[in-house]
Amino acid sequence: MNETITPLFKEEEIAAKVSQLADKINADYKGKQISVLAILKGSVFFLSDLLRRINLPVTINFVELRSYKGTESMGEVKIRFESDFSMEQKNVLIVEDIVDTGITLDYLIKRIELHKPSSIKICTLIEKPSRKKIDIKSDYLGFTIADYYIVGYGLDYNEHYRNLPFIGILHK
Ligand code: IMP
Ligand code: MG
Repeated sequence: MNETITPLFKEEEIAAKVSQLADKINADYKGKQISVLAILKGSVFFLSDLLRRINLPVTINFVELRSYKGTESMGEVKIRFESDFSMEQKNVLIVEDIVDTGITLDYLIKRIELHKPSSIKICTLIEKPSRKKIDIKSDYLGFTIADYYIVGYGLDYNEHYRNLPFIGILHK
């Protein structure tokens, strides 16, 4: 591993942003129950910080997806793991680390819709708008970045660097 990483978002900046997102979620879902569906593995740090600030009844479930991107194809998404839970008539809140092309989220949303939830919303820590292929809008969005490859705070490069407490740009 001879990559270098330059800091992009400090721990304090991330914490402040997560707190703002939680405030908004608390206000929007007031009086309701939330069924969180977190996308493994990248979202786990974000998820645990976010949910500690949610003051509503919450259940947590997980799905692990893999996307295989061909050079020109839109990419194929496969489910690697899914916890067994019912989404019917639930307020599903998807928690995702980063939206790049949007292919992964588009696939997941279509799949969830089949289960007839009351609502589906998306909470994403980071988006890269210049890379989007599918027009998916996050209802709650932390940061927007240019086309960098970033690691830390759950985000990996070949499964490494997830445990960095900050988010940085990876230079290969
Ligand atoms: P999408 O289907 O192209 O939107 O890909 C989204 C997934 O790709 C995310 O859930 C991440 O797992 C991964 N990903 C995209 N960009 C980055 C990045 O800059 N760092 C780490 N993982 C990334
Ligand atoms: Mg992910």
